[in-house]
Amino acid sequence: MADMKDGAMENAYGTLASWVYHLDKPIGRSFGDIEFYRDRLAGCTGPVLEPAAGNGRVLIPLLEAGFDIRGFDASEEMVAYCRSECEARGLPSPVDIARFESFDYETRFGAIIIPAGSFQLITEPGQALAVLELFRGALEPGGRLILDLDALACLADTAFAARHWQAGDDLLTLVESRVETCFQRQTTLSQLRYEHWREGRLVASEIQLFHLRLWGLLEFELALRSAGFTEVGVYADYRTDSALEPGASIVTFEAVAPL
Ligand SMILES: C[S@@+](CC[C@H](N)C(=O)[O-])C[C@H]1O[C@@H](n2cnc3c(N)ncnc32)[C@H](O)[C@@H]1O
Repeated sequence: MADMKDGAMENAYGTLASWVYHLDKPIGRSFGDIEFYRDRLAGCTGPVLEPAAGNGRVLIPLLEAGFDIRGFDASEEMVAYCRSECEARGLPSPVDIARFESFDYETRFGAIIIPAGSFQLITEPGQALAVLELFRGALEPGGRLILDLDALACLADTAFAARHWQAGDDLLTLVESRVETCFQRQTTLSQLRYEHWREGRLVASEIQLFHLRLWGLLEFELALRSAGFTEVGVYADYRTDSALEPGASIVTFEAVAPL
C-alpha cells in the first residue's frame, strides 16, 4: 500500500504533468467523447457542471457549442491552461479551483459530466459514495450525471510506457511504471515521472503518484442507486446504438436525480 504521506502527492497535476496533458490532449482533442457528451447534453435545460475539467479539453468545445457550462479542478496549473485558452478565444472562463470532495455551488445543474475516467481518481469507496451524493445534491430534480469509467480489465494491464513531446526547444518526457495492483480493492498505483529537457540538459523533473480505482458495472450501478440516483443507463465506447459488448474499453453511466 502507498504510504499515508504519499496521499498529498497522489493524483496531483503539477507544472510538468499539466504541461504534458495540455500538449498531449489539447482543447478539442476527442476520443469520441466530446461528440458523445455534446449529443447527450442536447436539450439539457439547466446549466452543466464539469468536475475535474482540467485544461478545458472538453469544456471549451462545449462552451463554444453554446452550452451554459462551468467547471472546476483541483490543479491550479490545469485551471490556468483552461483560463488562458478561454481568454485566447474571447470566451468567459467559467472554471474554479475546487475538489470533488468539497465543491459547493448555489446553482443546481441540469447535468454533471465527468469524461476521461476522472472519477476513478477517487480511490476510497466511502469517499466515492459521498462524492456521488454531492453530485446528486448538486443536480436539479431530473438532472443527469454522465460519467466515464475504464473497463475493469485495466486492472490486469501491466503498463510501462515511455513517451515524449517536443515543444519548440523544450523536450518533455514521461515514463510510467505500474508499482502496485490491488485486486481486492480494485486499485492501481503508478509512478509517472515527468522530465523537462532543453539542449540536452535536464531543467526540471516531477513525480506523480497516479492512483486509480476501477469499478465493476453492477457495483457502480449499485453505488449510483445507493447515492439516490434512479434510471441508471450504461453505454459502451461512446455509442448509444449498440448493446454493451464484453470487450468494451470505456463505459459511460448516465443516472438521473430523483424528481
Ligand atoms: C484526466 S484529467 C481530465 C481533464 C478533463 N476533464 C478532460 O477530459 O480532458 C483529470 C483531472 O482531474 C483533476 N483532479 C484530480 N483529483 C481531483 C480532485 N480530487 N478534485 C477535482 N479534480 C481533481 C486533475 O487535476 C486533472 O485535471
